[in-house]
Amino acid sequence: MKKVLVAGGAGFIGSHVVNELRKRKIEVRVLDNFVGGNQNLGYFDDGVEVIEGDTCRKEDCKKALEGCDTVFNLAAHAAEGQSVFIPVFNAQTNLIGSVTLLAETINAGIRDVVFTSSIATYGKQKKMPIKETAPLNVEDPYAITKKAFEDYLRVYHELGQIDPYIVRFFNVYGPRQRMDDPYRGVVPIFINKCLKKENPVIFGDGLQKRAFTYISDVVEPICGIVGNKKLVNNPINIGTEKVYTVKKLAEEIIKKMDPEMKIEFIPKRTSDVKIAYCDTGKAKKLLKYRAKVSLSDGLDKTIEWAKGLGAQEFRYFDYTEIPKLTHGAYTSKKI
Ligand code: UD1
Repeated sequence: MKKVLVAGGAGFIGSHVVNELRKRKIEVRVLDNFVGGNQNLGYFDDGVEVIEGDTCRKEDCKKALEGCDTVFNLAAHAAEGQSVFIPVFNAQTNLIGSVTLLAETINAGIRDVVFTSSIATYGKQKKMPIKETAPLNVEDPYAITKKAFEDYLRVYHELGQIDPYIVRFFNVYGPRQRMDDPYRGVVPIFINKCLKKENPVIFGDGLQKRAFTYISDVVEPICGIVGNKKLVNNPINIGTEKVYTVKKLAEEIIKKMDPEMKIEFIPKRTSDVKIAYCDTGKAKKLLKYRAKVSLSDGLDKTIEWAKGLGAQEFRYFDYTEIPKLTHGAYTSKKI
């Protein structure tokens, strides 16, 4: 791995990946359309080349891939709840973009491809924690596109074209995650709510469980995955095994930021998985993986960063593709 293209490198996880690769003295080129903003470019050193472009455009992919030997594909609109009412936008960004980049990767003769998939691909499961061998019972459009692209990678691997590394992340949070996005990322949403002196709002009873994983606990392992032959075309869960309810998360953030705040409850979100956490035995065995950052420490670091930035106005999409499936919390700007 000498020169890596990071698609979506200006995003939350992507920009941390760029920094970690540079720490490892690897040349990095970023391809990003800056839909999520370009504020993270300020974290890059001069050695990072940045191309503004779109993975949906073949010519942009071609240009960005020139001279690279590895591709990290992190270009996505990662908003599971929102994908239910903007399925076309979701398919375009998350699937067509990835497939376009993949086709050009193959045309460029590049074999190593790292793809950040998601726990969302498992959907509703009876057995927890979820192992990689579980059936993929996708439940929403975001998950469909992640699963579908995993299949594209498998098929082109079987056609002898690429060596894919597929990592399934779960509920990653940390500095640089968008705080002004009301549709995704419960951690930054709750933190922003407290900064704005507004009560955090919970969809449903708050007893849904998630394994909130601090950013460094996913970035370090994926930057070291390429070349690990056992992980070629072999999806792997990466994240913490510690699980919290959303209610507990809200209580922790309120305790740390503003004990005056009170939790508000509203009806549950469409297709919201109740309990989702993963077994990471495979990562422990094949990557010597261990999540290191506790929720309390991770929240402290994220809150410190967020305070530096200050309260943000939430930015709502001005369109929906399926109005009747748009949760009232968004139309009424309750979140
Ligand atoms: C899912 C995926 C995650 C992926 C993300 C991309 C699962 C288990 N996780 O996250 O891997 O990166 O999509 O979008 O599928 N909530 C509130 N109030 C709020 C915001 C959220 O109660 O203001 C609740 C949600 O209803 C949900 C939980 O908090 O139950 C987490 O929501 P969110 O952070 O958006 O992520 P997931 O949908 O779990």
